[in-house]
Amino acid sequence: MPYSTGLLEVKPDYFHRPNFKEVAPKVVKMKGKHLVTGAAGMIGLHLVKRLVEDGCDVVGVDNLSSGSRRNIRDVSGQFEFVEGDCRDMGLCRKLVKGKEYVWSLAANMGGIGYITAVGADIMHDNAMINLNMLRMAMECEVPYYFYSSSACVYPKYRQTEATVPALKESDAYPAEPDEFYGWEKLFAEKVCEAYARDYEIRIRVARLHNVYGPAFTAFDRRKALRHPQPEFTIWGDGEQTRSFLYIPDCIEGMLALMDSNYDQPVNLASDRSISINDLAKIIIKISGKNLKPKHDLSKPQGVRGRNSDNTLVKQVLGWQPKVSLEVGLTETYHWAVEHFAELEGI
Ligand SMILES: NC(=O)c1ccc[n+]([C@@H]2O[C@H](COP(=O)([O-])OP(=O)(O)OC[C@H]3O[C@@H](n4cnc5c(N)ncnc54)[C@H](O)[C@@H]3O)[C@@H](O)[C@H]2O)c1
Repeated sequence: MPYSTGLLEVKPDYFHRPNFKEVAPKVVKMKGKHLVTGAAGMIGLHLVKRLVEDGCDVVGVDNLSSGSRRNIRDVSGQFEFVEGDCRDMGLCRKLVKGKEYVWSLAANMGGIGYITAVGADIMHDNAMINLNMLRMAMECEVPYYFYSSSACVYPKYRQTEATVPALKESDAYPAEPDEFYGWEKLFAEKVCEAYARDYEIRIRVARLHNVYGPAFTAFDRRKALRHPQPEFTIWGDGEQTRSFLYIPDCIEGMLALMDSNYDQPVNLASDRSISINDLAKIIIKISGKNLKPKHDLSKPQGVRGRNSDNTLVKQVLGWQPKVSLEVGLTETYHWAVEHFAELEGI
């Protein structure tokens, strides 16, 4: 039976919902061997699933620090999964050897609370992962390499108001990224640029902005399960703005970028800016619950306003997101309900 949310109707089995197919109608042309790092994380899982559906030969690696085996069980047996750590250069060499496509998604990351609190480990782990992967990709003559950069590379001084102009790629400099996480992403973009210039490796860099969907690892599962204690709390006054990209749109954009000749960093994002208060209203409507969120002004809220200028990505890839926030959130909400209930046996 479809859920009736008042906003729209969707079926509960998200992998078979029409939107995934609607967004991803093309068969992947990249039939060589693929390596996906961070394969048990949110984006990695959906990429692996898409590649194997299209008959690609896929190896995935993850150290399961935030990703989980549960995420990949639907595709188990359809790709080779290696539990391992991309900070280990020897492992990276073994994994990268013989691959035509490397998708570099593994990262020590989390929500705004995590990336505000943790600096040294994020910079150390992610720099090691990216330096190792690129070095080994170069040594093993991998022709195509995708790097998942972030909107956090954009300077804080361009994001001081909720209604600031949308960010275009050239806005990244002069640099003053958001948090250590953003600095490391910008450094990794530069490492990619150096390898692309000095060696014959086609590197594609996407600046992802707030990707969400089923298997989202940044959910605070404990809080969700204990609700209504603690209450539904928004960090800050909720007037901070962001844009949100639904995972199947993200995967389609990543495939289009890898398959393109475009070799500079490009935004993969929605360009619909929304305040966190308005986002909460949509989610509450989907839930059908009568909730009034509280605000906690003591918590980190990140930059005040951020949106993506999609002019360049439309021009070079002909890509733009297709799924509305309301549809994406509805599917994600129902995934979360099923997933958390299963985890706790409730
Ligand atoms: N989701 C977003 O909104 C977003 C936005 C910007 C950039 N990105 C980038 O996209 C990539 C994927 O993000 P995601 O949302 O799927 O995150 P995620 O946390 O769900 O996935 C990252 C995966 O990397 C794995 N990992 C961490 N350290 C590792 C290591 N040393 N070796 C092997 N695996 C390791 C984790 O276990 C996890 O499964 C990351 O690089 C992230 O920085 C994501």
